[in-house]
Amino acid sequence: MKFFADTAEIDEIVALAETGMVDGVTTNPSLIMKSGRDILEVTKEICQLVDGPVSAEVVSTDAEAMIAEGRKLAKIAENIAIKVPLTWDGLKACKTLTTEGNMVNVTLCFSANQALLAAKAGATFISPFVGRLDDINLDGLELIADIRTIYDNYDFQTQILAASARTVNHISQCALIGADVVTAPPSVIRKLADHVLTDKGLDTFMKDWAKTGQKIL
Ligand code: G3P
Repeated sequence: MKFFADTAEIDEIVALAETGMVDGVTTNPSLIMKSGRDILEVTKEICQLVDGPVSAEVVSTDAEAMIAEGRKLAKIAENIAIKVPLTWDGLKACKTLTTEGNMVNVTLCFSANQALLAAKAGATFISPFVGRLDDINLDGLELIADIRTIYDNYDFQTQILAASARTVNHISQCALIGADVVTAPPSVIRKLADHVLTDKGLDTFMKDWAKTGQKIL
């Protein structure tokens, strides 16, 4: 399962990339706003830091403008994945942009029917938002499972990019279901290594080792 860092904060990407756990990055207009950076500049910088796909989102809502913006974003770097919203205009833009050889990430997906349309439109990635469904007392993980079943039924090649992942349980459950990618804030990805028994066991090993008076180096 690939891990994408869901952020436009350069320092967070650099720090997490040092662990080898960054297979790509996703951004969106809200993350760009939060970064305080110019979208073209920060996206270029991210593409230079990460070899994997870097999602950059269009900001128009009509297909023709989305296509024009997508073509401009794609020129930033080879590893750009153009993000378009799951609307009919977004699906039309997806079809055109993928036909032209671009990676396209169809985002703001909240239903299996939407995911089915994105696959038929040739999307490279589909981004179902797990956390936002949970926020309204629906089951975001159930959507991931439904999409996995549908895509496997018809051998769709669109990759399931589970988004809006807020907890380590979201990540492990997405892996159990078989999502291809999960995108999460670096803070959530970092929590994956945490376990109280690991800390306790290491502390005991270090104390017992100290008692031996030995050194390896
Ligand atoms: O990639 C989508 C992600 O940024 C949305 O996350 O927590 O705002 O639902 P969230």
